[in-house]
Amino acid sequence: MNALTSLHIRNAKGQRRLAMITAYDSGSAEVLDSAGVDMILVGDSLGMAVMGRPDTLSVRLEEVLHHCRAVCSGPRRALIVADMPFMSYEAGPRKALESAGRIFQEGGARAVKLEGGREVLPQVRALVQAGIPVMGHVGLTPQRVAALGGFRVQGKSAQSAAQLVQDALALEEAGCFAVLLECVPRELAARVTGELAVPTIGIGAGADCDGQVLVFHDVMGMAPGKPLRFVKRFAHLHPIMLEAARAYVAEVHEGVFPASGHCVSMSEEEHEEFIRLYDGRLPL
Ligand code: KIV
Repeated sequence: MNALTSLHIRNAKGQRRLAMITAYDSGSAEVLDSAGVDMILVGDSLGMAVMGRPDTLSVRLEEVLHHCRAVCSGPRRALIVADMPFMSYEAGPRKALESAGRIFQEGGARAVKLEGGREVLPQVRALVQAGIPVMGHVGLTPQRVAALGGFRVQGKSAQSAAQLVQDALALEEAGCFAVLLECVPRELAARVTGELAVPTIGIGAGADCDGQVLVFHDVMGMAPGKPLRFVKRFAHLHPIMLEAARAYVAEVHEGVFPASGHCVSMSEEEHEEFIRLYDGRLPL
């Protein structure tokens, strides 16, 4: 099993479409890898998907490292990309190098993703120069949700669309091996995809990107309620998990579980001896 590298991903442009999904633990990473996913993203979406927080702003580098170690715990074919969380790179190239270095050395990922356009080019250049492959991320950048005024589609006006193309081109020029486009109009995503020599990976960006990414919990339908517009559930596990949990609770309450097949027994001899010792209160 040869592991995919950022070079394989870069060279897939125009050859084949790329499938990427987030994972935060070893079990789900194993499933995704066995399914042939090209890239696994240890996303800072773990703050929302796993920790029930309202956004990604409070996710710390230590938390990304913790989940990254779990995802990288077995041999993987997929390229493992880890998100650089909020405030782990904004202060400049030195801070970015320190954080990404830990993601590589302690987390085990083999690429990082960071959010932003031309304002993060010094960080991207420093990482690429140090041999750390970087995926760019433009459009809706959740780490800037406070400044953006919410989780909104980006690049809807002609001017912001043109800015976004410039940002994506600048990220490619700085050495990114791929650029993620989040929540942008499909026409804009198609244009960026046509302009760039590196693959674009879309989420809520239409079908013309070179690849797609979704959050694991969304793909598996693990949350109740209606999914977001750009999400497709490939399974709907929430009702199945709810039914299983209810059945367990009922069987425990009714004394049906565990049945004799779920138990281990002492040998008759040991049991008798135990009763003799204990009931006779002999010194143990
Ligand atoms: O953190 C994340 O999951 C992301 C999404 C774009 C998939 O960055």
